[in-house]
Amino acid sequence: MEQRSSRAAEPGTEAAQAWPMDVEKYRAAVDAYLTTSKGKPTPLSKAIAEIFEGGGKRLRPVIALLACEATSGSFEKALPIAAAFELAHSASLVQDDIIDESSTRHGEAATHKKFGAIRAILISDMMIFEIFSELAKYGDAGLPQRKLAKLASLIGDSAKLAAEGEFFEMGLAEKGSVTEEEYVKLAELKTGALFAAAAACGAVVGGATAKQVQSAYEFGRNLGVSFQVKDDILDIVGSEEATGKPLFKDLQNNASNLVLIHALASSDPYQKAAINSMIYKKYFAIQEVETLKHTLEQLGSISHANEVEKSYADKAKRALMAFPESEARMRLELLTEGLGSRIK
Ligand code: IPE
Ligand code: IPE
Ligand code: MG
Ligand code: MG
Repeated sequence: MEQRSSRAAEPGTEAAQAWPMDVEKYRAAVDAYLTTSKGKPTPLSKAIAEIFEGGGKRLRPVIALLACEATSGSFEKALPIAAAFELAHSASLVQDDIIDESSTRHGEAATHKKFGAIRAILISDMMIFEIFSELAKYGDAGLPQRKLAKLASLIGDSAKLAAEGEFFEMGLAEKGSVTEEEYVKLAELKTGALFAAAAACGAVVGGATAKQVQSAYEFGRNLGVSFQVKDDILDIVGSEEATGKPLFKDLQNNASNLVLIHALASSDPYQKAAINSMIYKKYFAIQEVETLKHTLEQLGSISHANEVEKSYADKAKRALMAFPESEARMRLELLTEGLGSRIK
């Protein structure tokens, strides 16, 4: 991958406001690591570098670094596994945009739109194979074999769970009505699993006890669910400018969205028919969108989703109590509070 300067947020910018400067330092470290030259650039490695340059909050790697620091006092040794999680996540986004027929990501053309679906498949493959190269660095760094095996099983299992989640979501779309219980299971799979394993792996590299590793996992899983709920809210009432991706994709794909699940479960037949008439539509009239937002407001579906988001964020925060008080733990707590203000 090509060398480029780190993209730490400038003080006072939107990025700096959304990310406390405290946490920005870790994101910059991930970016610097991800973009350090890994040999002679190739067309495929350049395409991946371009995707990383396009944006992304780097939440999963930042969580891995902070979990490592919360355990051991420093984060540097977690950089390879942190990068591995960003690779897994980025590959899942390339594939998710194909699955969701979503044309923009980070305010730019999605990978399959920019490079075509065939190259996008190879790009996501390459990102997944790079994970092995990152894990191999721990062999060179002398991490005990037992811990290396733990990292490999955590990242492998979480990526498998995320894939199960994407698959499960397609089944739910075909099934029709979705319960909140099914939704939480879905969010734990498609989003919670990678967050959970990223936190757990950071703790493993930092030398945490088995109990702390489990707590780190719980932290990430709950934070991931909370994050997915926020993503659902933003799909309906967010702005494309802020999220860098199209609005109303969940309606268009009949993808599980907690706001809509709540609304459909609590609406009268007229409201239900109006919401259902928007599912699978490719375009919406402004008036239609306004009516939908009004109905969601009336039914309390947005505030319900906000409450669910907060309850999972609180669960995540409680799991952090397994770690001694430290600045890193405080930064992880900040993440449970700060995910509402998103940047692309
Ligand atoms: C997007 O994740 C997919 C979801 C889990 C909702 P992020 O919001 O973390 O993606 P980045 O920041 O663009 O990488
Ligand atoms: C998020 O899927 C989980 C992934 C495995 C990528 P979504 O479809 O909800 O995420 P966005 O909204 O496209 O980022
Ligand atoms: Mg999507
Ligand atoms: Mg999706």
